[in-house]
Amino acid sequence: MGKVFVCDHPLIQHKLTYIRDENTTTKDFRELVDEVATLMAYEITRDIPLEKVQVRTPVTTAECRVISGRMLGLIPILRAGLGMVDGILKLVPAAKVGHIGLYRDPDTLEPVEYYAKLPTDVQERELIVIDPMLATGGSANAAIEALKKRGCTQIKLMCLIAAPEGVQAVQKAHPDVDLYVAAIDDHLNDHGYIVPGLGDAGDRLFGTK
Ligand code: PRP
Ligand code: URA
Repeated sequence: MGKVFVCDHPLIQHKLTYIRDENTTTKDFRELVDEVATLMAYEITRDIPLEKVQVRTPVTTAECRVISGRMLGLIPILRAGLGMVDGILKLVPAAKVGHIGLYRDPDTLEPVEYYAKLPTDVQERELIVIDPMLATGGSANAAIEALKKRGCTQIKLMCLIAAPEGVQAVQKAHPDVDLYVAAIDDHLNDHGYIVPGLGDAGDRLFGTK
């Protein structure tokens, strides 16, 4: 069963409150999502391996540690996942970015894939699938499935807000995938929206509503 990490650092929870607030402007919403993505990247990279190097300080030679050559890949689910990419790249600028385009059919709530462009060496990379919202889990599961079909084996999922239904769906379909979230909310409403949630993440990020 995949583990679920709730990133409950006070800075993340503070910013998430303003992300949820319907009075937050598009500009502030985008900036806050970017900032929370950076803070969550700190948590999600906690287990990346280090290797020893020797450094000559002005005083002596020291044995220090640097991140080893493990290759990361960020996979935002279009379009709302885009809002978290730059925030993560601030901490891991060498990561490559692949895109998977999915939208939820408003009637069936089933994800429909309309785009996929991934790094050529994607199967060798440690991947972080990114989407602010994990509602039914259909989109995240479809994105993870699309990666596994291409031979990817090391996959984590990062979301801002998850519904319990989405967490269970991912754990059931992909027990090898660990999930990092800033909050697990109460439930999904009849339209598949997370309650209390933040509304439509894509619309709020890009000002389309
Ligand atoms: C939203 C969100 C997720 C998906 C979550 O995307 O960004 O991708 O819904 O719902 P699910 O867990 O039930 O699949 P949406 O389909 O609204 O597309 P958008 O990012 O283009 O706005
Ligand atoms: N997608 C969103 O953007 N928000 C939700 O609450 C659920 C799915």
